[in-house]
Amino acid sequence: MNLDALLQEKKILVCCGAGGVGKTTTAAAIAIRAAMLGQRTLVLTIDPARRLANALGVSEFGNEVRAVPRRKFEKAGVPLKGELRAMMVDTKRTFDDLVERFALNVEMRDAILGNPIYQQLSETLSGSREYMAMEKLFDLHSTEDADLIVLDTPPTRHALDFLEAPDRITAFLEGKVIHWLVKPYLMAGQLGFKVFRKGTSSVFGVLEKVTGMEFLKDISDFILSFEGMYDGFNQRAKRVKALLADRDTGFLLVTSPNRRLLDETVFFYNKLVEHKMHVDAVIVNKVHRPLAGSAAGPGGPLLSDQGRQEAAARMAEAAGFDGFRSTASKLLLNLARHQAMAERDSRNIETLAGSLDRGVGLLSVPLFPLDVHDFDGLSLLNQHLFAA
Ligand SMILES: Nc1ncnc2c1ncn2[C@@H]1O[C@H](COP(=O)(O)OP(=O)(O)O)[C@@H](O)[C@H]1O
Ligand SMILES: [Mg+2]
Repeated sequence: MNLDALLQEKKILVCCGAGGVGKTTTAAAIAIRAAMLGQRTLVLTIDPARRLANALGVSEFGNEVRAVPRRKFEKAGVPLKGELRAMMVDTKRTFDDLVERFALNVEMRDAILGNPIYQQLSETLSGSREYMAMEKLFDLHSTEDADLIVLDTPPTRHALDFLEAPDRITAFLEGKVIHWLVKPYLMAGQLGFKVFRKGTSSVFGVLEKVTGMEFLKDISDFILSFEGMYDGFNQRAKRVKALLADRDTGFLLVTSPNRRLLDETVFFYNKLVEHKMHVDAVIVNKVHRPLAGSAAGPGGPLLSDQGRQEAAARMAEAAGFDGFRSTASKLLLNLARHQAMAERDSRNIETLAGSLDRGVGLLSVPLFPLDVHDFDGLSLLNQHLFAA
């Protein structure tokens, strides 16, 4: 697996996986590498840690593309042949842009953007962050001149949310469920308020009491205001999906080496393949590596009380200080646990390898003692990703 070649062949690379595994970090690191290699690179990050955002020079209120200054590369001693631009995707603003694009007229646009329900939902609706990440990707892919776009994805609970988001949102906007819920109100809009009150079902009566009439009016306005826009949204969602399935688009699945996440990764991998997406590599991040040349060998003997006591005694003797025994014993337990985790990680990764098709790269990056959020940290990560 040659990740460098991938950076030069693909036009889009999507980093996805569960929350906290290192998607944002990986996206930033490979974008830096691509820029080093000469690609005009654009990285779209979602919710980067503050320090990472600072390192890339993108701010929370951006939603616009910014060049990462050349001097940041120079300062970190990273040669830069190409260029790097970065952006932090703002879900709400991207949704607003989409509404603006598909609204049939200015009144319609303002009605939606000013609607309190829309203002709430555009940010909090499950799937809207995923959808808007892809929407922004699509938007920039068609408007920006870049050799490679690296897309980070939101911290979803289930990696699959990412694929299903466009369908879910368009279905929601089509309003089948809500339509049914507020149908009495929609009808009331046509028939007049009095008739509506008389015909109110008990469920609706309760809803009205709990939420107040204003809320129901907002919802019904919200639905009515989207009328006529579904086609635009649907078409667009289809094109976004087509772009994701394009040969020039690659997926990098990022994961941690624990069993649950690896199972989820395999599941997601199969789904992506099913959806005709191209998964190029799985990156197992935060791997416990066995301590190099460790005299302790495998953790096993040290995990037993007796084994540890004996080793601690030998260490104290070697140190010529018997008081060192108890500290040595604690250090040895720590070492044994680390070794055990390293063994476990390595077994898990082997199992993972058996579940991937040939041709899919499998890369691993060790767990570093500190977080990774500056150029130095990202370069270190790249040394592992691009070592082969
Ligand atoms: N290999 C690593 N070793 C140690 N910390 C890491 C490593 N990779 C990422 N991190 C840290 O883990 C945290 C989560 O990473 P992040 O990229 O934000 O995850 P995600 O985007 O998948 O939610 C960050 O604080 C990051 O600095
Ligand atoms: Mg993230």
